[in-house]
Amino acid sequence: MKRTHTCGELDKRSVGKKVVLTGWVHTRRDHGGVVFIDIRDRYGLTQIVFNPEFNKDSHKEAEHLRREDVILISGVVKARGEGLANPNLKTGEIEVFSDRLEILNKSATPPIEIDDRVDVNEDIALKYRYLDLRKPSLQKNMIVRHKAGKIARDYFDSLGFLEIETPMLAKSTPEGARDYIVPSRVSPGKFYALPQSPQIFKQLLMVAGFDRYFQIVKCFRDEDLRADRQPEFTQIDLEMSFPEENDIYTIMEGLMKKLWKGILDIDVKIPFKRVPYDEAMERYGSDKPDLRFGLELKNITNIAAKTSFKVFADTAKNGGLIKGINVKGAAEKFSRKDIDDLIPFVQIYGAKGLAWMKYDGKQLESSIVKYFSDDDQKELIKTMGAEKGDLLVFVGDPKSSVVNAALGNLRIKLGKQLGLIDEKDFNFCWITDFPLFEYNEDEGRYQAMHHPFTSPKPEDIKYLDTDPTKVKSIAYDLTLNGVEVGGGSIRIHQRELQEKMFKALGITPEEAQLKFGFLLEAFKYGAPPHGGLAFGFDRLCALMVGTDNIRNVIAFPKTKSAESLMDEAPSVVDDKQLKELHIKLDIIKMPAKDEVYEKIVDALNKDKIEFETIEHKAVYTSEEAAEVRGISPSQGVKALICKTDKGFVQACVPGDKEIDLEKLKKVLQTKSVELASADEVKRVSGCSIGSVPPFGNLFEIKILIDKQVTQNKEVAFNAGTHTKSIKMRAKDLTKVTGARVAEFSK
Ligand code: AMO
Repeated sequence: MKRTHTCGELDKRSVGKKVVLTGWVHTRRDHGGVVFIDIRDRYGLTQIVFNPEFNKDSHKEAEHLRREDVILISGVVKARGEGLANPNLKTGEIEVFSDRLEILNKSATPPIEIDDRVDVNEDIALKYRYLDLRKPSLQKNMIVRHKAGKIARDYFDSLGFLEIETPMLAKSTPEGARDYIVPSRVSPGKFYALPQSPQIFKQLLMVAGFDRYFQIVKCFRDEDLRADRQPEFTQIDLEMSFPEENDIYTIMEGLMKKLWKGILDIDVKIPFKRVPYDEAMERYGSDKPDLRFGLELKNITNIAAKTSFKVFADTAKNGGLIKGINVKGAAEKFSRKDIDDLIPFVQIYGAKGLAWMKYDGKQLESSIVKYFSDDDQKELIKTMGAEKGDLLVFVGDPKSSVVNAALGNLRIKLGKQLGLIDEKDFNFCWITDFPLFEYNEDEGRYQAMHHPFTSPKPEDIKYLDTDPTKVKSIAYDLTLNGVEVGGGSIRIHQRELQEKMFKALGITPEEAQLKFGFLLEAFKYGAPPHGGLAFGFDRLCALMVGTDNIRNVIAFPKTKSAESLMDEAPSVVDDKQLKELHIKLDIIKMPAKDEVYEKIVDALNKDKIEFETIEHKAVYTSEEAAEVRGISPSQGVKALICKTDKGFVQACVPGDKEIDLEKLKKVLQTKSVELASADEVKRVSGCSIGSVPPFGNLFEIKILIDKQVTQNKEVAFNAGTHTKSIKMRAKDLTKVTGARVAEFSK
């Protein structure tokens, strides 16, 4: 090596030594003819002094140094003067007086600051990720990731697990997301799928007799991205033969203990809590509850059924669910307006509203208390555990999933807002006994909650044909502070039961044969009982370093739209490559990426109208849009292009309403009105359905806005693409578009 020491190594004991250091110029200061620089490498920073009295040549060279130049210096270590030591720096007690400076490579002016304290635009940071990665925080994260991987490998090795690689080019594995697929050149028209997980292969390794397998492995899932989801991510994946469910818990708890000790020097307590799925949903409204604080959900359906508060009573009588949260001691902290401000939040999850009461120790107060008899009030106070100064909030809905999602998420929001979360606490919890199936409302069928290889509880197998909702599985998730960090199950290992499972999932024997024939075939030849689990390695690392975005623990992550801004993947390929793969593209020509958005922005700026642009993942429904915009669906504007006998018009209704074509016909005084087809929408506006903005005037068609839209203070809408919304005042929208306001929604 050219260097004798790293930039994080020298301290008082090194004083007097002659050293050579290599690294990047971090900062440069000129103090009265003496030049100081901090030289940086991944181990730290060292202050270098170029003093003309110490060495003239070296000082002269130093005058040309710029940030991020790569240099080599030699010099002598000296103690810093009285009062000049920097206690925040490992090398803060010394400095190196340079007698030689070699510029190994000049740097262009970097487009971002290599400084954790400076906020950088995320897109620029990702474009120049190799510079962003020079930051100490990201370097630390990569080191933690490396160490965590090593701890996991050593741990599994010590327990006799073998790391065995499984294919990246394979057949689709059913983890529930869309596959990334790779065309085959030699088999025209055929495709590999990148693995969503090594699930089937690890089961086959069990059939092959490798009774303890693990792998730190890349997985690929084409799904909507969030802070804790990347299209390619890493699992610590494992599988065991002949396990009891408890063996899996014990081994995994051992791994968590080693990781937290090795990385954070924290002794986590094992065994972890175990909460059955049903209980988690009942108490926290979530299957990944954050257990660092209370604010549990209470079921008040039976009480609500007896009251004359019609909304709740009817919901309760018709089989719906009503639950509440006792926001302890918050009655004073929340004004009426503060509570009203929570309504759009619960609406994101489909709730229609949020009822509330305050308790002053003697009586409940709110506009709905009069609908509750004295006895019902007493029962409510008891069930909610209400004490003086408490605020009670309630959501009722025909769908239990809506109540749980709304209150479960509100619980987290309130926990954060009220400062109830101890950020230093690591609260692990196993969620057990998941239902085997969940109902997919869009497709009108049951699907596997984990994956189709998960074993039902033996005592529930009898319900597989008759009442699938009753069947619980031997599946478990490990959660930590509200994040699902891992999931797995005991598997089905008998061919007959696996076939029965496929049948329950509506997979025909032919389909099963086509997709998983090789697994069924393998099960013929003595498959041992087996089970396992996979951890989200990125999520574990993120929790250990204390970030809520897994991008910060991935060297080269993708954006929310699954792009790599640095190397510009995905990108077009040349025709020759496509030809070799026998692929012909059939892409609908859309307007240039932001053409429509820019037209709107021009119009708004011209009229000096205030607005906010929100960039987000692609959204296609009003609910999805509301979630990313953080407002209720009713504040969204659905801008529909309609065809009439007099030509096209644009009619805009609130996101949660439909258009009443009969009413619209009357308003327009036309003979016919119908919604335009997808092709017509594209032809008229240049946008695809769902991304058309309420700016018909820009496409030179008449625009009508429903009265209910204008009753909002603020509205938001997709601005020509599915990934960009504009938020602005409703009254400005009518003004700038010159729209006619009428009533035509239902
Ligand atoms: P599952 O689908 O639950 O199980 O995945 C296991 C864990 O992987 C993490 N994870 C992700 N992390 C980042 N980005 C993503 N897109 C992403 N998707 C999942 C989560 C999750 O808990 N084959 C089964 C495991 C088994 O049954 O053994 C599986 O993959 O932390």
